[in-house]
Amino acid sequence: MQALSLKPIISKNEIENAVQKLASEIKKDYADKCPVLIGVLKGSFIFLSDLARELNMPLKIDFTRACSYGSKDYSSGSVELVKDIEMSIKGLDVLVVEDIVDTGYTLNFIIKYLEAKKPFSIKICSLMDKPSKRVVDVKVDYAGFTLDKDVGFVVGYGLDYDEEYRSLQDIYELR
Ligand code: PRP
Repeated sequence: MQALSLKPIISKNEIENAVQKLASEIKKDYADKCPVLIGVLKGSFIFLSDLARELNMPLKIDFTRACSYGSKDYSSGSVELVKDIEMSIKGLDVLVVEDIVDTGYTLNFIIKYLEAKKPFSIKICSLMDKPSKRVVDVKVDYAGFTLDKDVGFVVGYGLDYDEEYRSLQDIYELR
């Protein structure tokens, strides 16, 4: 078996700029509101912590976790809730924070489960969006980077391969 190699695709600096841009857009849209950021674990943990600090506005934070079963790098479409949120979101403005949206299976599942809790609104913020991989029609309201279809499996800045690479500061394509 050939060893895996990491090809840098998005630098720490580019990520910082994207987070700033997203935060200023979100801040404008949620002026005078107190949104609930719901991070989808585990991949979003670094992005959410950077975004929340950059937003520098009244907000609440909670986390959820869903698992999709399949191989390490391909989502099977069968998604299951692993961790529920802990606060009531009834009547609140929810901003789901994801690291990446590929097939959309995970996000579609999460949106439906959050909608059942009757928030006032739900929007989606994802650091990366890969629309070419989409199987389920879900819309990302705020996307930091739109990845081309030829970009392979990505790791770093929260994203893993078999639980490795999450703490890398840049984002890499795994080859
Ligand atoms: C990744 C990512 C998204 C999901 C996107 O999570 O964080 O939640 O896959 O893929 P999809 O659009 O094809 O559903 P993963 O299940 O790898 O868990 P992790 O965040 O704990 O690494």
